[in-house]
Order: sequence, then structure tokens, then C-alpha cells
Amino acid sequence: MVNDKLDIFLNTMPSPLERVEHEAFVQRGLHLYVKRDDLLHPHVSGNKWRKLKHNLLEARRLGCTTLATFGGAYSNHLAAVAAAGQAFGFSTLGVVSGEESSVGNPTLGFALQCGMDLRFTSRANMRNLSENALLQLLNIDTEKTFVLPQGGANCLALKGCREIVEETNAQLGYLPDYFITACGTGATLAGITSALDGKSAALGIAVLKGGFLQKEVEKLLATCPQSFVIPEGNLNQQSAIVMDGYHHGGYAKWTPKLIDFINAFKQLTGIPLDPIYTGKMFYAAHELAGQGYFPEGSKLVLVHTGGLQGTAGFNERFGKQIL
Ligand SMILES: Cc1ncc(COP(=O)(O)O)c(C=O)c1O
Repeated sequence: MVNDKLDIFLNTMPSPLERVEHEAFVQRGLHLYVKRDDLLHPHVSGNKWRKLKHNLLEARRLGCTTLATFGGAYSNHLAAVAAAGQAFGFSTLGVVSGEESSVGNPTLGFALQCGMDLRFTSRANMRNLSENALLQLLNIDTEKTFVLPQGGANCLALKGCREIVEETNAQLGYLPDYFITACGTGATLAGITSALDGKSAALGIAVLKGGFLQKEVEKLLATCPQSFVIPEGNLNQQSAIVMDGYHHGGYAKWTPKLIDFINAFKQLTGIPLDPIYTGKMFYAAHELAGQGYFPEGSKLVLVHTGGLQGTAGFNERFGKQIL
């Protein structure tokens, strides 16, 4: 049964906005704040909660009892949907690209523990087939099923991410000069940008290589006009900037410099970062600060989009890198 815990949880927002004193930023006269969305929920954390919130409400409104979605074997999104289903009373089904043997990894193990029904398909199928075609191919009954895209990137996700801006504005009493977030599908950056009305800059740090995310963000903003009002001729789209130089080799690739930074940042500030998303974003912000990219006196809000569940799988694959 879809239960009313969803309403109770909705009332627990907002996430903390933490002022962080970090030498590299202080030296440049920058004011650093971290929007701790990683603390929103123990398992549906970060931008996953933001992106799922309005989707869960819509699923409930439509009377759906199952959430179906798609992802890789280490997907934060799959883990979050599994946890959200368990917490809020939906059955969940996850279509996973790759081998069934990956079910032993911490992410899929967690999804299974939450009761997610896992089905496997080839990476080529996942890449080439539409969501509906995949569900048909796997003979999945979609009655009363709410289908979420891979990475949770739809218009309702953008609507949830707008709330990062609204909350921050209420917490600070003004909008910062920059919002900075990691970019995978671009939905979080698009949602933030859509709420800014050109008043702050929105920087996205691409965690994948290929240089396609700037276009993706613009596409999302253009395809979701019903989620928000973009006043004619304003600078919304131009104020989202995706930086492509900080992926450290590509998705889930890493460099020793990145790992050292993540470990040092935690030691200095107590804030844990993951190596796939937030580590790369904070690393980039730190580098940009050092290069004088941000004018002195700028106020920066770095959005901690969670992803910490991925650290166990990362350490399992590569040795205990993240402390
Ligand atoms: C922890 C974390 N941060 C950031 C992102 C990137 O967000 P988006 O896909 O909305 O660009 C993701 C992936 O969705 C994620 O799992």
C-alpha cells in the first residue's frame, strides 16, 4: 500500500546549508556554502530525493503501485528508487544493464534487500531500446506502473531540483553568485537554472566525457516548459554553464589526485564526498577557486548531491581508496 509516510517526509525539508571554511576558498576571498542534500534521507539522498519527490507524488496521484526504472549495476538512481519504494509503500522493479553476476555488488545487494525485482539486459539493449521496448522485451506487466527514466531525468525531476534554489534563497536571505553541481544527465543543473531567472550563475561539472551535457541541459530546459515559467527572452539557458574538463578520464574513472582531494576534504571539513559525482565537482570548484575563476567576494553554493552509497562499491572494485 502506498502510505502517508510520503507526506510526513515532505515536511522534514529543507536540507542544511553549511558554511565551510576551507583555506583555498578563504585565500581567494570566497564564501563557501555546501547545500547538504546528502543528509535529506539515509537512502534516498541528494539529488535523488529532489528528482524523485514529484515523481512519487504523481505516481501516488495516478494510483500506481509499482515504480519501474533502469540503470547500471552501480546506479545511485536504482538504489534510491528501491529505497523510496520500500519507504513509501511502492513495489519496485529495476532493469539493470549488464550481467546477473553483478547482483553481488553493494548497490544491487541493497536494491534487492529493499525488495526491488531486478531484471537484466545487455548494455546494447539499454543503449538502443526505448524504455517501453525494454519493458516489453522483458515481458514486464506495466499495469499500475509508474515508469521513471534512467537517472530519473524528467520534467518532474527538474521541478524538484528547483527547490534547491528556493530553499537556499530562504536560508541565506539572498541568492548566491554561483550554484555548482555535478552533471550526469544534466537534470539537476537544468532544474537549478530554471529557478534562477538569470540572477545567479549555475555551473555544472560534467562527470562523463564527450562534451554533450551543455546541449542536454538546454534540451531539458526547452522540453519542460510546463514545469516552470521561463519568461520570454530571459537569460535562463545562457546562465547554465557545463564544464567538461573535470571528468578524470570519464564516467566512474578516477585519478589519484581526485582520491587524495576527497580524502583531504573530508579530513578538513568532515564532509564525505563520492568519487563518481560530488568528488569531481568539489575538486573542480577547488581548482577553479585556485585559478581565480570566481571574483573575490563571490558566494558559492556547492550542492552535495549525495551518491555516498557508491563509495562501498568503488572501494570494493579498486581497493580501499576512499577513507
Ligand atoms: C550523486 C549524484 N550526483 C549528481 C548526479 C548528476 O545529476 P544529473 O543526472 O541530474 O545531472 C547524479 C546522477 O544522477 C548522482 O547520482
